[in-house]
Amino acid sequence: MLSDMFMFVTLITGASMGIGEALAREFASKGHNLLLVARSGEKLISLAEELRKDGRVKVEVCVEDLSVVDGPARVYEFCCRQHIKVDLLVNCAGLSRAGGFYDIPTGKLEEIVMVNMMAMALLTRLFLADMVERNEGGIINIASLGGLQGVPGLGLYSATKAFVITLSEALYMELRGKGVKVVVVCPGFIETDFFEHAGHNTAHLRLPLSGVEVVVSAAINGLKKNKLYVYPTLLDKALVLSQRVVSRKTVIRLAGFFAAVPDG
Ligand SMILES: NC(=O)c1ccc[n+]([C@@H]2O[C@H](COP(=O)([O-])OP(=O)(O)OC[C@H]3O[C@@H](n4cnc5c(N)ncnc54)[C@H](OP(=O)(O)O)[C@@H]3O)[C@@H](O)[C@H]2O)c1
Repeated sequence: MLSDMFMFVTLITGASMGIGEALAREFASKGHNLLLVARSGEKLISLAEELRKDGRVKVEVCVEDLSVVDGPARVYEFCCRQHIKVDLLVNCAGLSRAGGFYDIPTGKLEEIVMVNMMAMALLTRLFLADMVERNEGGIINIASLGGLQGVPGLGLYSATKAFVITLSEALYMELRGKGVKVVVVCPGFIETDFFEHAGHNTAHLRLPLSGVEVVVSAAINGLKKNKLYVYPTLLDKALVLSQRVVSRKTVIRLAGFFAAVPDG
């Protein structure tokens, strides 16, 4: 039995903007205490101040660069120092880079791998042990439809999201009967600054953009129902189903067509 001195929180990485910020707002409205993690300290602090205003939830901020190998361990140490227990971990921080794989600066390649894969795996490993010991907890991993196949023009990104999906699948089964839920969310194109950060012009996309709210409600609903995979929109579900009836090469070609990353 844990003492009352511990505060239980939902930890959200990538909470400074986009999908992570929207998840933070929704979880706060549902009464979750929060720990917000990202690099943009000022954004996190002003979001935390706003969410604390009605006095219903406690919101802590941990400014950390998750592309640095010991970033996740520092987040864990922060929690230990602050007597914070994470009962729900949301691995949302992520980034991409549009263009041919041969063109990615190696520093950017390392950053993408570190944030999308390494930080996600390390944070999960660090916080999961406590959840298993308590026989209670949850993990929401934000992957992407892009992780269901290689996407030409977004090759590295799609490979990192395949890692997130595969690890989530294994964890879902490993953790059955241990009180810890795992859900992997695979959105299509969502209206955030993600594309601008990736150097990818949304005007080129050949599928519609959805709002962040569809990801938020699907993720929370998925966790509640103990689903493994969450595809937020009807279109996402249709695209996943369509993969069963066409060849793998067609799936890959179509994914590149929809993302429409210009050559060179
Ligand atoms: N938008 C889409 O169409 C889409 C579709 C499918 C999946 N997703 C996934 O959804 C997640 C959120 O994306 P988004 O659309 O909300 O993008 P976004 O608006 O660009 O937000 C990305 C978040 O990741 C954080 N982040 C990036 N690098 C970081 C680092 N080194 N250390 C710590 N935090 C870092 C950013 O915070 P700081 O910059 O403050 O550090 C920011 O909060 C990502 O995993 C993305 O792959 C997005």
